[in-house]
Amino acid sequence: MTKSPSDTPVTTRDFLAFKEAGRRIVCVTAYDALFGRLVDEAGVDCVLVGDSLNQVIAGRESTLSATLDQMVYHGAMTRRGVRRALLVVDMPFLTYQVSREDAIRNCGRVMQETGAQAVKLEGGTAMADTVRALVDVGIPVMGHVGLTPQSVHALGGYRVQGRDEAGAERLESDVRALEVAGAFAIVLELVPAALAARLSKALKVPTIGIGAGPGCDGQVLVLPDLLGLNDAFSPKFLKKYAALGEAVRRAVGGFADEVRRGAYPGPEHSF
Ligand code: KIV
Repeated sequence: MTKSPSDTPVTTRDFLAFKEAGRRIVCVTAYDALFGRLVDEAGVDCVLVGDSLNQVIAGRESTLSATLDQMVYHGAMTRRGVRRALLVVDMPFLTYQVSREDAIRNCGRVMQETGAQAVKLEGGTAMADTVRALVDVGIPVMGHVGLTPQSVHALGGYRVQGRDEAGAERLESDVRALEVAGAFAIVLELVPAALAARLSKALKVPTIGIGAGPGCDGQVLVLPDLLGLNDAFSPKFLKKYAALGEAVRRAVGGFADEVRRGAYPGPEHSF
């Protein structure tokens, strides 16, 4: 990917300007300083510390058991690597749904303790008042609708949303409610491409798609997925830009082999 011409840090206001200029927004997840630095140096616009870390890093079945402490820990680590991209931290299940007071306190803690510039939370119309309350106290919010992984059991699995007319209408009200509430961007996950394109055109704020086709204003992928680190995971929407899972096995296998044969360390590695 080509780097952005400017090294100026990306702000939430830039997201709107990017959309107005027809410049697609690039977002990836990262969960620590090492990968935060690498993806920032690659020139992405936005780094998301997603609660997907509970699955891809912590090895859990779903995002449901992710905790606020986990997100703060990984958010603060990632902050140390990211200089230019906008840093967004995901709010985990039950840290923003119970009450608006809880949401402000927990999102405020994430902003204070991680240095992120925004939070992301799942849900549309039902979350609109909460989004408004957060925006009113100065916390920028990225929305997330379509397949919302924290509701995986209510949705009956990781399936495409908005396929039928009623579902499409619901999604349309959801994104409009989030825009009116002040969300600066909205993730559309697993939404039919034609619907996602229509919603993106209808909104002033940018949409960031994952499994939502090319008509969104930007795209996000989970970093270990796009790097091919998580090689068993191959949903239709995913393009793997590297095969690092295999590269890691090969490299570590080479190390193990040389240690066992006494070939490493050689004289050039010894003092
Ligand atoms: O948790 C996450 O990584 C996400 C992205 C897939 C959008 O929510």
